[in-house]
Amino acid sequence: MSGLLIYVIFFHVLGAIVWVGGMIAIRFAVHPSLQNISDDQIRLARILEITGRLFALVLPFILLLIATGLYMAHVFGFRGHTDLSVVVHVKEAIWLVMTINYAVMVWLRFKAQSYYLSANYLMAKKYLAPIPKYLLPLNIFLGILALYFGLVLRGF
Ligand code: HEM
Repeated sequence: MSGLLIYVIFFHVLGAIVWVGGMIAIRFAVHPSLQNISDDQIRLARILEITGRLFALVLPFILLLIATGLYMAHVFGFRGHTDLSVVVHVKEAIWLVMTINYAVMVWLRFKAQSYYLSANYLMAKKYLAPIPKYLLPLNIFLGILALYFGLVLRGF
């Protein structure tokens, strides 16, 4: 394997671990625990901090995933209309949907933060609610699907 390629695959897999694993940890370990904070103001402050840190952490890995994925698709010759080029397009589509979903979550969090800062906790809660309920589970599911298609591309 060429010297550069090992780093490309390394960062592709690391990106998958951090993005998908980060969302799983927040949704299934951190989120249930935060529900035990009964004081609205304190709970919302912690939720805003944790989601802010998660979203900032994963952003560079989102960009790394598409850059390394496109590079590998090019180097491995998954072009034209082969079976594997279809799988590459499926992964590109999954990445796009996940990234749009991520941008929606960032926007919802930003709106919630503005309401929080003006002490409108009801509206802050309203904007945050879809994140653990629909958007994080959707991205976790799509991320696991992309991981599976990564193995299909490897030739399994
Ligand atoms: C959306 C998030 C993505 C995740 C979570 C993900 C995950 C993975 C993982 C875990 C592997 C390693 C499989 C192995 O060990 O062989 C992999 C391989 C690969 N992925 Fe992705 N991937 C993503 C997006 C993309 C995109 C957007 C592309 C193409 C534009 C892409 C193209 C590839 C290619 C070409 C391989 C190499 C397979 C091989 O070893 O030959 N991936 N992916």
